[in-house]
Amino acid sequence: MLCAPAAGRALLLCALLGRLAAAGSPELPTAVNITWSSINFKTILRWQPKPSDYFYTVEIHGQTSDTQKKCILTAETECDVTDVLRNVKETYTAHILSVTSSRMDNFEEPPFAVSEKFTPYNQTILGKPEIQNYTQKDSKLSIVFKDPLTPYTFPNGSFQSIRDIFKHDLDYKLYYWKDQSSGKKDATTKSNKFEINVDSTKNYCFYIQGIILSRRENRDGQESVVLCTSVGRNILDEYGAEVFIIIAVIAIAVITLAIVLSVILCKRKKAKSAREKEPLNGV
Ligand SMILES: *[C@@H]1O[C@H](CO)[C@@H](O)[C@H](O)[C@H]1NC(C)=O
Ligand SMILES: *[C@@H]1O[C@H](CO)[C@@H](O)[C@H](O)[C@H]1NC(C)=O
Ligand SMILES: *[C@@H]1O[C@H](CO)[C@@H](O)[C@H](O)[C@H]1NC(C)=O
Ligand SMILES: *[C@@H]1O[C@H](CO)[C@@H](O)[C@H](O)[C@H]1NC(C)=O
Repeated sequence: MLCAPAAGRALLLCALLGRLAAAGSPELPTAVNITWSSINFKTILRWQPKPSDYFYTVEIHGQTSDTQKKCILTAETECDVTDVLRNVKETYTAHILSVTSSRMDNFEEPPFAVSEKFTPYNQTILGKPEIQNYTQKDSKLSIVFKDPLTPYTFPNGSFQSIRDIFKHDLDYKLYYWKDQSSGKKDATTKSNKFEINVDSTKNYCFYIQGIILSRRENRDGQESVVLCTSVGRNILDEYGAEVFIIIAVIAIAVITLAIVLSVILCKRKKAKSAREKEPLNGV
């Protein structure tokens, strides 16, 4: 349908035809509950509802970059938009278009829903740092860990870490405490290791978390796993009290069983000998 605005009459006709076309296909449902979920710059857009006889197409609008389409004519309700959010300091919005495949060559804009704004640099969540190794020697606890990687690569193909993107805006915090106690202490570093002074005779537990200094929200990243040192080469420290309790319970059960069995056997023997004597007594 060609709608060159040649004359007023032609325009009117076009408008009329357009309205007819629109009336021909009932309005499609638009996406609701649109959410961004983003960890270490891997970003997935999700929405509802599941489409029945139509499709979705996602358009990412930046402030300065051109609009980019992703997940064209998808029947899913999620879309990985990581690769179109490369300018991580830019603020993006997503339009989720509801389309039927036959409508694609139509002039009319399909109905769409608009997401909230999203700025990867300010909003992606920092993932767990991975602890590589740790030692407690004398009164020094040393911990070495890795920066989480992002899906973005350098020109040479190697993955950029979150540190490559956040640079001095990134700190790591260590939380540590004496095993079995609750008093937590913390330390901060801009490198990939911690070295702290501790009581050489005590075991310590700890975890690490990234922090983005410029942020007011989502400052703290996900917590690493909790690890504990074991300096006391005492079996109880290594295996914990639970193992001892289990062993004790099993031992008690075995002893009890032995006693019960011997009592039963004893009684049977007595009963047997009593029965053998019975005829004599009975007469
Ligand atoms: C949107 O989210 C709300 C609250 O979580 C839920 O009650 C509603 O069913 C969702 N809408 C759709 C279409 O699933
Ligand atoms: C961690 O491992 C590296 C290489 O395997 C080693 O050089 C370093 O000393 C270790 N650090 C600690 C704290 O054990
Ligand atoms: C790729 O380039 C980055 C930055 O230029 C550098 O830090 C990294 O070591 C390089 N990786 C390889 C495998 O050459
Ligand atoms: C992102 O965070 C920086 C630092 O807090 C702030 O200056 C900037 O306005 C934020 N951008 C958006 C889009 O919120």
